[in-house]
Amino acid sequence: MKQKTIYTCQECGAQSQKWLGRCPECGAWNSLVEERAVPTTAGAGAAAASAGARYALAATAGPQLYEDIDTVVSARLSTGIDEFDRVLGGGVVPGSLVLIGGEPGIGKSTLLLQAAAHFAHSTGTVLYCSGEESEHQIKSRGQRLGTLNEARAPLYLLAETCLERILEEVARLRPALIVVDSVQTVFSLKFQSAPGSVGQVREAATQLLFAAKGQNIPTFLVGHVTKDGSLAGPKVLEHIVDTVLYFEGEKHHSHRVVRAVKNRFGAVSELGVFEMTGRGLKPVPNPSEIFLAERPAGAPGSAVLCCMEGSRPLLVEVQALVSTSSYGNARRMASGIDQNRLALLLAVLEKRAGLNLLGEDVFINVAGGMTVDEPAADLAIVGAVASSLRNRPIKTGTAVFGEVGLAGEIRGISQAALRLREAAQMGFTHVVVPEGNVARDEAPAGCEIVPVRNVGEALDQLMDW
Ligand code: TYD
Ligand code: MG
Repeated sequence: MKQKTIYTCQECGAQSQKWLGRCPECGAWNSLVEERAVPTTAGAGAAAASAGARYALAATAGPQLYEDIDTVVSARLSTGIDEFDRVLGGGVVPGSLVLIGGEPGIGKSTLLLQAAAHFAHSTGTVLYCSGEESEHQIKSRGQRLGTLNEARAPLYLLAETCLERILEEVARLRPALIVVDSVQTVFSLKFQSAPGSVGQVREAATQLLFAAKGQNIPTFLVGHVTKDGSLAGPKVLEHIVDTVLYFEGEKHHSHRVVRAVKNRFGAVSELGVFEMTGRGLKPVPNPSEIFLAERPAGAPGSAVLCCMEGSRPLLVEVQALVSTSSYGNARRMASGIDQNRLALLLAVLEKRAGLNLLGEDVFINVAGGMTVDEPAADLAIVGAVASSLRNRPIKTGTAVFGEVGLAGEIRGISQAALRLREAAQMGFTHVVVPEGNVARDEAPAGCEIVPVRNVGEALDQLMDW
């Protein structure tokens, strides 16, 4: 039989009979790759059917009456790492498929090995499949972590990239947890394309999904990210899985943040904070502390913001540097906040608070490599810029949050009570807040609320002249 070739877009999975420079579906350039077509009868369709027979999604065949469906909340299983459980929405749900993405070297394998070790101790058999490292390498990492040295735990390592072999071991071991270290290295014998290609990644994810759902085994998949920071492979990968987590952090900082971007079993934008130490990742129960640790006391251009990450309030430092521009057009640079938001806030400062920023370079940074994208950050940015321009520090012990409108008004934001509580806990004595937030929220003990209505008032409250 003559083998037909088809071209598959590596971004979106669209297929074409001939090579094209641009994918007609998603518009990506140069993303079509030659793959060998699988005859539909013997290939994908039949494969899916046989897989479906082996791992039926549910035991019942026909539709069920809504009323008759049991809603017993299946108990969540703890990974033994509080911060990780938090991002998952309170532990891992049996039968769920979780994808964890992140740059190379950020700590994905470390976190999953730690979770696997805890899980083997507390819950049951764990199968850790790695296509990137040998069993020896994984074990030597485990020894470094120290979590695995004590009792014998049923943790099985498998250096294997063949999907069929992995599924065989799953059927044989019947583990309570599966980890597949990098879905991009796994390949199925049914396809002839290279591991990591759209067809292979999709097949691997789908088969593992059947295994997870059919046998109620929670499964973690590691995913590579591309240069622009999105998960490598087709978008379908993110659609298949139940939960997508991103591992973030800077190579040069020791703290790491795990963020949920999709979660069928919990809130998104939930955040777990870790510190990379010589003995693996350590949860940071009070992240505000590390984000504020190196804050220069009494220096102009530094404001403390109470932001929310998921359900958790977090204090971060927003820094601004305003300096006279020596060239024609002033530079505006933002790291950790949106560049356009900065331009807007500078315009508001000029027009509504009478600050002259025309000939000034403005640099903004959120300390610790954090990214803040909620409007509550506006007031902190405005405060930091004004403080740097006037060369006056923001009053000691003062934190701030609030949205700035185009008319210079300060608008109320959500979850003010939680933010206030966090500020009080971290020892702040004054919090400058939008007036709209005052009535509804009581001040925590030892912390004074300073309501403001517009940018001018806010700047007066934040700084002494
Ligand atoms: P790793 O989990 O291998 O990253 P990924 O799987 O995301 O590619 O993390 C490796 C990095 O973490 C490496 O640079 C070394 C560092 N590390 C520590 O600092 N302490 C440790 O205990 C371990 C195991 C790794
Ligand atoms: Mg790894």
